[in-house]
Amino acid sequence: MNNKRPDSMERITTSELAKKFIDEQIAEIKAQVGDKKVLLALSGGVDSSVVAALLIKAIGKQLVCVHVNHGLMRKGESEQVIEVFKNQLDANLIYIDATDRFLDLLAGVSEPEKKRKIIGGEFIKVFDEEAGKLEGISFLAQGTIYPDILESDGVKAHHNVGGLPEDMQFELVEPVRLLFKDEVRVVGKELGLPASMVDRQPFPGPGLGVRCLGAITRDRLNALREADAILREEFDKNGLNKTVWQYFIAVPDMKSVGVKDDKRYEGWPAIIRAINTTDAMSATIEEIPYELLHHITKRITSEVEGINRVLYDLTPKPVGTIEWE
Ligand code: XMP
Repeated sequence: MNNKRPDSMERITTSELAKKFIDEQIAEIKAQVGDKKVLLALSGGVDSSVVAALLIKAIGKQLVCVHVNHGLMRKGESEQVIEVFKNQLDANLIYIDATDRFLDLLAGVSEPEKKRKIIGGEFIKVFDEEAGKLEGISFLAQGTIYPDILESDGVKAHHNVGGLPEDMQFELVEPVRLLFKDEVRVVGKELGLPASMVDRQPFPGPGLGVRCLGAITRDRLNALREADAILREEFDKNGLNKTVWQYFIAVPDMKSVGVKDDKRYEGWPAIIRAINTTDAMSATIEEIPYELLHHITKRITSEVEGINRVLYDLTPKPVGTIEWE
């Protein structure tokens, strides 16, 4: 497989160029796969979604997508994967709700790297078990993109929960391996994927697991998911989704005293992080209008069970990393 982007390869910026790329890839995929079956771990992230849409177009039901819900997805994400791929694109999609497996394993674990290892390891196990139940799979499709190849110093491999076991005996299908992220998005749009999917901000593989700080509990994870959904909704409504690179909520494992409905109300703080960056190596803090911060604070503290304060993280990277864990 060619893993070097030719110098002559034009940057895909327009619908016409995307169409041309899609047609070429469909022919290439058909030639590679023939009438065999292909397996894909579909996280719902930009890269795997675009690969899924391309393969569905090329080989239809010969593609088997497996979506593992590790219980650490943002609100509505797994539902969107099912809606887009199963209901709209009629894909051969296996949905596995492995929430209990992951949360049971994570119970009481507070060390960030240990949490990452558990989530990554369990993901491979669940996917492997599912792959073992299927018959006649010859190929494994992956959403590898060009920066993954350029950075093949292991950074992404370590980062990505979707990283699969090396001993899997499948030939790889990696149709977007020579593309940069912005090109993957243009191709995704041309394939008809919704903007909320192709324009998604980066989301770490371990998901909300590294934002529910310390040992994860179901009630605090739930509060985090609801608060995060409100933040996203308000950023979307106010156009900040177009100007802010990454924004999310982290909820630490500590409570403070508050008052709600005239009664003492102990709750967790929701910490807002909203940063801008080009490469995630360093980051600046976005100026969010105070009025909007007040509005978000009001919504989160009144709508989310368990949260009684909202804080805004003003720390650039360095010194702070983007994620809290
Ligand atoms: P940090 O926190 O290192 O984050 O400043 C830089 C970028 O990487 C993302 N990130 C991760 N992505 N698995 C991932 O796939 C991870 O374990 C992980 N940790 C951080 C983070 O969201 C930010 O975009």
